[in-house]
Amino acid sequence: MSQGYIIWFTGLSGAGKSTIAAALAEVLREREQRVEVLDGDVVRTHLSKGLGFSKEDRDTNVRRIGWVCDLVSRHGGVAIAAAISPYRQTREEIRGSTARFVEVYIDCPLEVCIDRDVKGLYAKALAGEIPHFTGVSDPYEPPTNPEVVIPSHAESLDASVARIVNTLEELGYLPTVAAVEEGA
Ligand code: ADX
Repeated sequence: MSQGYIIWFTGLSGAGKSTIAAALAEVLREREQRVEVLDGDVVRTHLSKGLGFSKEDRDTNVRRIGWVCDLVSRHGGVAIAAAISPYRQTREEIRGSTARFVEVYIDCPLEVCIDRDVKGLYAKALAGEIPHFTGVSDPYEPPTNPEVVIPSHAESLDASVARIVNTLEELGYLPTVAAVEEGA
C-alpha cells in the first residue's frame, strides 16, 4: 500500500483555500490517489458543530481535523485540510504528530480578501458585528517555513494547483505521470 500524506491549507477567510483544495483533489483523483478533503466550513457543521472562534475552540477544531487527516494518511490516503488554522504552534503540533505533512500557505493580502468578501463576513466584522474575526480583530500567524506558498491573488487556479502538484512530485509523495506510464 502506498504511503499517504497530509496537505494542510492555511490562510485567511476568502483567501481561496476551499477552491484550491477542491481543484487539487480533483487532479489527484485523476491521478489515482484516494483523497479526502476536510474543509473547515463543512467540518464545523458536524465534527466540530457547536465550536466557536475563541483560540481554544479554533485549536480544538484544528486538532480534530488533524486527527482525522492522520487517520486517512495512515491508511494510504491523501488528506487535504482547508481551515484558517490561524495559530502557528497548533499547525506545528499536527506536523509533528504525523509522518508526511505538506503545509500550503494561501498568501492572499487581507485587502484582497476584504474586497472579495464572498460571504459578506468582512463587512460585518469591520462594522464590529462579528467579534474575533481573523485578520480584522483576531490574529493570523503565517507559517514561517511552509512547503508551498500560493499567491492566490496573483495567479490562476490552474497555476496554483500545478505549483502544489509539482511540490508533491518533488517530495516523492506523488508519482510523476512519466513514472506511472513507465511502470504500466
Ligand atoms: S479555524 O480558525 O477554526 O481554522 P475555520 O476554517 O474552521 O476556522 O472556519 C472559518 C470560517 O468560519 C470562515 O471562512 C468564515 O466563513 C466563518 N467564520 C465565522 N466567524 C468567524 C470568525 N470570527 N473568524 C473567522 N472565520 C469565521
